[in-house]
Amino acid sequence: MTEEVEDWWDATADAFQDAIDLDVGVNWTGFGHGDLELLTDVEDDAVLELGCGGGQCSVALAKRGADVTGIDLSENQLVHARALADEHGVDIDVRKGSVTDLEEFDDGSYDVAFNAWVFQWVEDLAACFEETHRVLRPGGRFVFSLPHPVYDVTEGGSHEVSESYFETGRLEITHDGMDVDQVLFRHTVSDIVNALVDAGFVVERMHEPGTPNPDDYEPGPWGEYTPALMSKLPAVLVLEARNE
Ligand SMILES: C[S@@+](CC[C@H](N)C(=O)[O-])C[C@H]1O[C@@H](n2cnc3c(N)ncnc32)[C@H](O)[C@@H]1O
Repeated sequence: MTEEVEDWWDATADAFQDAIDLDVGVNWTGFGHGDLELLTDVEDDAVLELGCGGGQCSVALAKRGADVTGIDLSENQLVHARALADEHGVDIDVRKGSVTDLEEFDDGSYDVAFNAWVFQWVEDLAACFEETHRVLRPGGRFVFSLPHPVYDVTEGGSHEVSESYFETGRLEITHDGMDVDQVLFRHTVSDIVNALVDAGFVVERMHEPGTPNPDDYEPGPWGEYTPALMSKLPAVLVLEARNE
């Protein structure tokens, strides 16, 4: 399963980074309606980014004084992460790997694990959360954001609920002119929260950032998000959990 995701990201990494042109920072929401001030206090913390992509978040946390390791399935994304780290003069350890298998990392070796916009690509969240729990020290923090599962089943133009929220699992999207398909995985909010609890985390905060004003949003580089709909439904889900 992860091979398909890896193939997609290897094929699209350059075009993605070019189009999205992200600033260095933790882009929890990514829609220009005010980001969240999370993980601002990481000085001297050992931090693991689970799916670091082009490294914008890892570089930001390294600049805040953290000792950052980033893993990602896509070697082509990591090329961008390494170049960004060099450009900003920070030293981050970025390696190829899957968030569902953290075997190379010791038990209790991180203070913080996080990611932004990765878990829609991951089928086996339970494996990832169990492994993350293992590599975090007791009391360690796990913070992540992903597209809100409710927003994801709503049609941008009509605002109709076009698919079933309860139909979870694999979603395959074919794009014109691409040799590889985009493979995503749907999860419900309760699936995500319960997988965290089952892995041994305490969920401390949940955020659904947004405002009722469509002018507060941007439609994304591919016009894939609809400001009018984002002003009605949360487009992003952010969870803060702690390792018990
Ligand atoms: C949308 S990017 C997000 C990256 C970064 N947080 C950002 O804001 O640019 C998603 C990344 O998740 C990575 N990814 C997806 N599934 C993964 C997995 N199972 N293990 C590691 N990385 C994964 C992809 O390769 C891709 O680089």
